[in-house]
Amino acid sequence: MSSKSGCVVWFTGLSGAGKTTTARELLQQLRAVGIKSELLDGDELRTGICKGLGFSYEERIENIRRIVYVSELLARNGVITIVSAITPYQEMRDYARSVIVDYAEVFVDSPLEACERRDVKGLYAKARNKEIECFTGISDPYEIPDHPEITLYPEHGSVQENARLVYNWLKQASYLN
Ligand code: PPS
Ligand code: MG
Repeated sequence: MSSKSGCVVWFTGLSGAGKTTTARELLQQLRAVGIKSELLDGDELRTGICKGLGFSYEERIENIRRIVYVSELLARNGVITIVSAITPYQEMRDYARSVIVDYAEVFVDSPLEACERRDVKGLYAKARNKEIECFTGISDPYEIPDHPEITLYPEHGSVQENARLVYNWLKQASYLN
């Protein structure tokens, strides 16, 4: 199977919501059927092209600007490009949508309490102890997306099922053929 045209599938949500896990599973599902796809993950990019950026409002804006640039480039060249980054401000998501022609936003809607309960990386505990500043959901905002194309509820449904929902959305939107 091939991709008819590229697009950007932009996963947004709180830290620990399940963005990376679901995005990786979607990548696998796409590659399993031979679709040219790539994943740009916030945590990973912050060790590469976004190295040195912190979590102030300005730095997050710059982080997202770079991710928009690269993802748009890939999508324009026929790649199904998955982004997983918190992208906490509506203004950032509006910017991504305005630059990227084929843009589909996926809100990974895990409640803060669930993310904090799991605390996979121990970051919530550190944020509560004030060892980390500007932590999304605790000491920094996360604005609920205004108009995501897809909303996933990781509390209800497996990673595979949620990734499949996105896969099926891409299919019905004619990005896969
Ligand atoms: S953003 O807001 O879109 O620029 O963030 P992103 O590039 O996705 O980076 C989020 C990951 O950075 C880690 N981390 C933090 N997240 C939020 N707030 C603060 N202060 C912070 N400090 C470190 C964390 O591992 C995030 O990864 P995910 O996968 O979202 O949990
Ligand atoms: Mg992640």
